[in-house]
Amino acid sequence: MDNIYAPRIAEIVRVREETPTERSFWLGLGDEGFSCRPGQFIALSVFGHGEAPFGVANAGENLAELQITVRRYPGGQVTEPLHQLREGARVGLRGPFGNGFPLDALRGRDVLIVAGGIGLVPVRPLIHEILAHRQEYGKFTVFVGARTPHDMPYKDELAEWSQRPEVDLRLTIDVPHPEWDGHVGLITTLFQGFELDPSRTKVVIVGPPVMYRFVIAECKEKGVADEDMIFSLERTMKCGVGKCGHCAIKHKYVCTDGPVFTYAEIKGFAEEPI
Ligand SMILES: Cc1cc2nc3c(=O)[nH]c(=O)nc-3n(C[C@H](O)[C@H](O)[C@H](O)COP(=O)(O)OP(=O)(O)OC[C@H]3O[C@@H](n4cnc5c(N)ncnc54)[C@H](O)[C@@H]3O)c2cc1C
Ligand code: FES
Repeated sequence: MDNIYAPRIAEIVRVREETPTERSFWLGLGDEGFSCRPGQFIALSVFGHGEAPFGVANAGENLAELQITVRRYPGGQVTEPLHQLREGARVGLRGPFGNGFPLDALRGRDVLIVAGGIGLVPVRPLIHEILAHRQEYGKFTVFVGARTPHDMPYKDELAEWSQRPEVDLRLTIDVPHPEWDGHVGLITTLFQGFELDPSRTKVVIVGPPVMYRFVIAECKEKGVADEDMIFSLERTMKCGVGKCGHCAIKHKYVCTDGPVFTYAEIKGFAEEPI
C-alpha cells in the first residue's frame, strides 16, 4: 500500500512576486502530471523545515505544472523558508486533498464570488472553470477586495477579466490610494446597489475570517439561503487525510469533509466563521 505521508518530489520551475508578501510558485511535476479540482489543496513540504497546506491556484487533469500562491508570515516555519527558494529547488508535495467547490451545484445557477485578499487564490481555478464553460452558468459576478492596489494578487489576470463581457468583475480597496481610481471601501460595500435573485444565486465566499460575518449579513439581507452560501475554511492541519484530528470543527474534519462547506453545514458551530 502507498504511504499516505510520503510526499512526491516537485521542482520549482518559476517564481513570481504577486504582492509584497505573496509569491506564486510553479511546481514542475514531470511526466506523471498532477490532477486536482478547484478548491482542493496540497500539503507542501520545505525539506528540513516542515509541511503546510496551500490551495491549488490552477486545476485540471494531468497538469505538468501546479501553481500555488503563498503568503509569507514573519517567522513562519514553512512560508518563510519557502519564500527563500528559487527556480531549481525541490519541495515535497502530498495531495490533492479535500472536496473542492461543488461544481454540480453551481451549474445552472447565477454565481457570485466574493474574494478578500489571498482568498482569491482558491477561487481562481473556479473562475477559470466557469469562464471555460460559461454557457453552463447564469449571471457571473466576482467581487475582489484588497487593502491596497499593491495587495491584489494576479494583477494581469484581473486586468484581463475586467475586459471580458462574460464576467462582471468588481474590485475594491479598503482605503483611498494615489494609484487607484476605482471603488474604495470594504468588500461589503460592493453589495450596495447590487441586485441578485436569491432563488437563482450561489455565493462563494473566501477571505479572512473577519470578512465572513459581514458578507453573510449582506447575503442574508438579500435573501440568500444558508445552503447557497459556500465557504472555504482554513484550519491548522497536520495529516491532511482525516487521521490526526488537528483540523476538526466539532464532528467535521476540514481536511476531508471540507475545506469547502455551505453555511447550512457549519452554522451553529462554536467556531463558525461569523
Ligand atoms: C485548506 C487550506 C488552504 C490554504 N491555502 C493557502 C494558500 O493558498 N495560500 C496561503 O498563503 N496560505 C494558505 N493557507 C494557510 C497556510 O496553510 C498557512 O499560512 C501556513 O500553514 C503557515 O505556515 P507557517 O509554518 O509558515 O506559519 P507558522 O510557523 O505556523 O506560523 C507563523 C505565524 O504566522 C501566523 N499565521 C500562520 N498562518 C496564518 C494564517 N493563515 N492566517 C493568519 N496568521 C497565520 C501564526 O499565527 C504565527 O504567528 C491554507 C490553509 C488551509 C488549511
Ligand atoms: S489534518 Fe489531520 S484530520 Fe485533518
